[in-house]
Amino acid sequence: MAEQKKDVTLQIDGNALTVPVGSTILQACKQAGIEVPVFCAHERLSVAGNCRMCLVEVKGHRKLAASCAMPVCEGMEVETQSEMVTKARTGNLELLLVNHPLDCPICDQGGECDLQDITMAYGPSASRFRDNKRAVADKYMGPLIKTVMTRCIHCTRCVRFANEVAGVEELGALGRGEDMEITTALEQSMTSPLSGNVIDLCPVGALTAKPSAFQGRNWEFEKIPTIDTSDAVGAHIYAHRRDGKVMRVLPRECPEINEEWITDKTRFSYDGLRYQRLDQPYVRKRGKLVPATWSEALELVAQKLQQAAPKEIAAFVGGMVEVESAFLLKKLLRAFGALHLECRQEGAYLPTQERGDYLFNTPLADLEKADVCLLIGTNPKTEAPLVNIRLMRSAQAGAEIYSIGDDLDLGYAHTVLSKKATVLNRIISGDHPLLEKLRKAKNPVVILGMGALKSEDGEEIYLTARHIAQTACLREGWNGFNILHTEAGRVGALDIGFVPEARGYTTSRILKTAERGDLRFVYLLGADDIPMEPLSSAFVVYQGHHGDRGAHSADVVLPGLAPTEKQGIYVNLEGRVQETCSVVEAPGDAKEDWRILRALSDVVEGPLSYNTREEVLAALQKDHPVFQARGGVAAVSLKGSFPKKEVRRGVFGYAVPNFYATDVICRASPTMAQCIKEILEGSKPKEGR
Ligand code: SF4
Ligand code: SF4
Ligand code: FES
Repeated sequence: MAEQKKDVTLQIDGNALTVPVGSTILQACKQAGIEVPVFCAHERLSVAGNCRMCLVEVKGHRKLAASCAMPVCEGMEVETQSEMVTKARTGNLELLLVNHPLDCPICDQGGECDLQDITMAYGPSASRFRDNKRAVADKYMGPLIKTVMTRCIHCTRCVRFANEVAGVEELGALGRGEDMEITTALEQSMTSPLSGNVIDLCPVGALTAKPSAFQGRNWEFEKIPTIDTSDAVGAHIYAHRRDGKVMRVLPRECPEINEEWITDKTRFSYDGLRYQRLDQPYVRKRGKLVPATWSEALELVAQKLQQAAPKEIAAFVGGMVEVESAFLLKKLLRAFGALHLECRQEGAYLPTQERGDYLFNTPLADLEKADVCLLIGTNPKTEAPLVNIRLMRSAQAGAEIYSIGDDLDLGYAHTVLSKKATVLNRIISGDHPLLEKLRKAKNPVVILGMGALKSEDGEEIYLTARHIAQTACLREGWNGFNILHTEAGRVGALDIGFVPEARGYTTSRILKTAERGDLRFVYLLGADDIPMEPLSSAFVVYQGHHGDRGAHSADVVLPGLAPTEKQGIYVNLEGRVQETCSVVEAPGDAKEDWRILRALSDVVEGPLSYNTREEVLAALQKDHPVFQARGGVAAVSLKGSFPKKEVRRGVFGYAVPNFYATDVICRASPTMAQCIKEILEGSKPKEGR
C-alpha cells in the first residue's frame, strides 16, 4: 500500500509553505503568520463558514474561497492581500454594518470587539446605505448573560459552543436570512455550568457579562494571571483588577488543563470576595463573637492549645487552603503531639501511601483518547465541568461511557449500569461484560467520584474500583485509574500528609469523639464543610477569610486571606503544582495565613521559625520534594497491593448537589445566589434581559 502523504506544500502570497494534510487555508495562513480576519471561525468549534470575512483568492478558482472552510491541496496558490480580497472584505463589512447599531460608546464590548477592530482595519470609511436598521428584541438567557441582539452578526459561535462543547441544546437560531435570531429555547435561562464562555466567543457585544454590565472598560483593568480555586481542576485565569477590586475573571489559555474555557463559578463568583469577609480577629465572650486584638486572640488560642492533651487536639483543613498553611499547621500541631489531622472533611476514603492512590492519573488532555470509560458515583458535569468537556470529546469520538449511580444528563450518551455500586462486585469477578470491554480497550478509564468515596462503603468501592483498574486499565504509558476531586486544596493537603497519624482518627471518628466531649481543642483552617454541632463542647479556632459555617461556630476567629489575595501553592487533581498570585489587597486587619500560624507558633513557643514565604517554601520542598517542580504532570503508576472487599450496600449521593454553592466565596456571592434562583429554581425575573 502506498504511504499516505502527511504534508502539503502550497504558496501563500508568493511564499512556499508546508502544512499538515487536512489543514484549512486559514490554518496555513496562521502558520505563516499572515492575519486573515474572521468572525465565525474558531479553532475549537466546527466550521460554519457563514460570515464570509475570511475570503481569499485561490489561483484557478473563479470565486473567492472561505479560507476557514477550504482545505489546502498540493501546489495551491493563495493570495490574501489582492485587490479582489481587499474589496470583498470591505464590501462584507459594509453589508454587516447595514444593520449594526451605532452603539460603540455604550457597548460593553467596546475596546475588545472583533467587529470594531476588523472594521478599523478593513472597513469602508462611509456607508452607502441609508435605510432604517433592523431591530431585534433582546432575549433572556439567564442571570449571567446580557443580550443586545440587534448587535448579533449571526456567526453562530455561541450555538456551536453550546452544542459541541457544553453539550446542551439550549441555544439556536430561529428564522432565516434577515429574520434570523439567536435565542434560547422558549427564552429560558442557559443551564450549562459553562454558559459564560459564549460571552468570550461572541465576536460582538450581543452577549456580554450581565453581572459586570457597564462597570468598566477593558483598558481600565490590570490583568493578573492566576489560578482558579473554585474546583480541583486548577484552570488558568486572568483576574482583572481596578481600584483594588477584582472586576472580572476571564480564562487564560492552557491547552493541557482548561484550553480556553472556564466554568461560570470561576468567572462570576468573584463578587463573593466582597461580602461576609473576616477583617479582624474575634473572640467569643458570653456567647457572642466580639472584636479582639491579634495578641488577645492569639494568646487565648495558645492558652487553650497548651491546656489540651495530644489526644484532645484535632484539626481540619478546608478545600481552598493553600499548601503552605496546611504544611505549617501540621508542623505546629504535631509539635504538640496532635494525631487527629484531617483534610477529607466529607469523610471520603482515600489512601495516601502513593500519589497514584489519590490522583486523577490520566492527564486531562489524554482523557479525550479514552475509548471505554466507567464513571463511579460522580457527576463530572457539576463536579468538574472542564473534565466533562474532555469526556464529551471522547464520547463524540465514539468512546463507550458507562456510569454507576442515578441517571444524569451529562451532555453525551452513556449507559447506566446500575444505580448501586454493588455491580462492581460482578464486574471484578468477571461476571459482567464490562471487565472484558475494559481489558480489550486501548485507553480504558475508571473515574471514581467523591459521592461514592464518602458513602458508607466508600472503602469497599475504592478497593473494588482500584482492583478493576489494576486488572484492566493499565497500559504502557497509560494509567486509567482516576479520582475526581472537587476541592482545589485537597490534593496538596494529601501530598503533605494532612491526614491522621497511625493512631489518629478520621473525620467521622473525630466528630464522634468531639460529641462525647473528649476533644478540647479543634483548629479549623478554612474548614467550613464539616457538621459543626458535634464540636460545641470543644474550643474551636477558625482561621479563614469568610464568615461562613466555621466562623459562626468558633470561639476565636483569625482572619486570613482569600486565594486572590495571596501567593499560594495549589495542586490540581492531576497533581500539577501551581501557584496563585496576589491580585488584590486583603480587607482590614486580615493577614497572610502562614504569618498567622508563624505568630501563633511564637506565642506557644512552637517550632515555626520562618520569617519569609521563601523560607516556608524551602522547608516544604525539603520535606516534600514533589513541590520542587511547577506546572507539569509526572506519570504515576499504581503501586502497592490492596485487600479485596465486597461492596455490600453501594448506595451514594453525588458530591456537588448545588454547583453554585460549593465554597465560602460562592456562598457569599450575590451572583451565585441569583443563579440558584434563576437557573436551579427557575424563577425568571420580570425585567432585565
Ligand atoms: Fe461597537 Fe462592537 Fe459593540 Fe458593535 S458590538 S456596538 S461594533 S463595540
Ligand atoms: Fe455570534 Fe454573538 Fe450572534 Fe451568537 S450572539 S451568533 S456569538 S454574534
Ligand atoms: Fe470563514 Fe466566517 S471565518 S466564513
